Amino acid sequence: MTSSYGLTRLVLTDFRNYGSAQLTCDVRPVILTGPNGAGKTNILEAISFLSPGRGLRRAKLSEVTRNNEESKKPEKEQNSSLSWAWGIASTLSTPQGSWDIGTGLEIQEGKERRIVKIGGEILKSQTLLRDYVHVLWVTPQMDRLFQEGAATRRRFLDRLVYGLDSMHVTRVTRYEHYMRERSRLLKYGGADRHWFDALEARMSAEGVAISAARRQFIDHLLQAKAWTLGTFPQAELALAGQIESWLGAYSALETEEKFREVLKASRQQDRESGGVACGPHRSDFTVTYREKNRAAAFCSTGEQKALLISIVFAAARLQNLQGAGVPLMLLDEIVAHFDERRRAALFEEILSLKMQAWMTGTDIGLFTSFNNKVQYFRVENAMVHEKSVLIKM
Ligand SMILES: Nc1ncnc2c1ncn2[C@@H]1O[C@H](COP(=O)(O)OP(=O)(O)OP(=O)(O)O)[C@@H](O)[C@H]1O
Ligand SMILES: [Mg+2]
Repeated sequence: MTSSYGLTRLVLTDFRNYGSAQLTCDVRPVILTGPNGAGKTNILEAISFLSPGRGLRRAKLSEVTRNNEESKKPEKEQNSSLSWAWGIASTLSTPQGSWDIGTGLEIQEGKERRIVKIGGEILKSQTLLRDYVHVLWVTPQMDRLFQEGAATRRRFLDRLVYGLDSMHVTRVTRYEHYMRERSRLLKYGGADRHWFDALEARMSAEGVAISAARRQFIDHLLQAKAWTLGTFPQAELALAGQIESWLGAYSALETEEKFREVLKASRQQDRESGGVACGPHRSDFTVTYREKNRAAAFCSTGEQKALLISIVFAAARLQNLQGAGVPLMLLDEIVAHFDERRRAALFEEILSLKMQAWMTGTDIGLFTSFNNKVQYFRVENAMVHEKSVLIKM
């Protein structure tokens, strides 16, 4: 049996190495194989743009535009004031019906703008995509997640939280906006004391809500005992930060008050530093390999990858348990790193969650145990070919 949630059509235009490519599929998991540089990761990146944010490479929007002499637009189109730099069109099948979802970079009079359309209607904000699509991914770029700065880990955690609490996207976007606005006013002046008070009140309300949602998500994940995925390691998760420790000792309202006072008291310091001394944007999401009692940063690359898989699948399972459905899952070159038993556990989990997982690899042989429960595509020279493989078992 297959899920009724997943993409059934994906069309790329001037996206990375694709001039124009179309892929039609059903909601079963998808395997993309092909040589290095063929365009496999680019397809996953395109899917990641169907959710709010900058996609799985956190690329600048203009960097995504196909960089190729042949793709230059005809003279007439180049001169027009409106043009598309790149575009993605898709159809998402859900239990409630099908949605046509599109996004792309529009250039109007030299100005770039990301456009998002659902059923042909332009959305006011890309954050509204959260009501339609939830995408999670594990990619080779995330190998350094536990070594890099806390910002990368917070982004990772926030994406997991979106799946259970879609308002979280809005909170994070608003909080970042208020934070930038406060820094701008501190730097250039032009606002009185009351204006700062009002801005800081909003910042503290959104900021405390962000920390509370992150804490609640982690609690649910740990309580749900949604942890066992074959021989994958179990992870201990925690949040470290000032707001979180206040929330451990005080009510949300008292925490907001405390946060507001700190913001008020640190205006001068923040003016000089150009930052904000305290807030959920400074918290860290820490992960420990439970069995070994070792911080993820000190685990081997393979162990870290296994921890990541363990966490994202626990989040997907929790989402499913709570009736929020399962996300689209993008697994870029993940399978090659796991032994036979872990691969089997991962495949079983994908099938039992009825999840449309998009998996890439250079070697189709790694996916044989999926047999015909998945669909195969061959990617070569920026072309996608449907592959009806009969794998000999
Ligand atoms: N803006 C762009 N315009 C044109 N080509 C691009 C652009 N950005 C990236 N590419 C090219 O797209 C090609 C495919 O990249 P992609 O990362 O999808 O390959 P892949 O199939 O995942 O390969 P690998 O197996 O090595 O991971 C690469 O040659 C890359 O240089
Ligand atoms: Mg790749």
